[in-house]
Amino acid sequence: MKKVLPFLPCLFLACCATRTAPIPDMAMAARSGETYETLQRGHSLYLAHCTRCHESILPADVSKDDWHVVVPGMSWNAGISEAEEAALTAYIFAAKK
Ligand code: HEC
Repeated sequence: MKKVLPFLPCLFLACCATRTAPIPDMAMAARSGETYETLQRGHSLYLAHCTRCHESILPADVSKDDWHVVVPGMSWNAGISEAEEAALTAYIFAAKK
């Protein structure tokens, strides 16, 4: 008799109702003209800081113009450096594209 291994498809972050910020990949880097490293850094900053005080407000939820206004204030709220703010901004705009 053939042994059939149970196969559970791995639904990586695709399943749940939880809204998650897009994970950077090479395609996102190519689309945005940012380096993959910058986007990864911005993404981790986003995860580490931007859900502390309120629920995750996703890159797609806010218009580009509004993000330009909001990010400096929220970066100050989060206590991140200017360089970190630049990576975060790069990530947010790349994730919108
Ligand atoms: C120290 C707490 C705190 C942190 C950390 C924080 N926020 Fe906020 N955020 C707030 C508060 C309070 C509001 C609502 C009042 C306001 O608009 O200032 C808000 C509102 C917002 C809004 C809506 C703004 C509007 O005018 O509708 C966005 C978008 C946002 N935050 C994004 C972010 C991002 C991105 C980060 C990560 C850098 C972040 N927040 C980190 C406290 C925080």
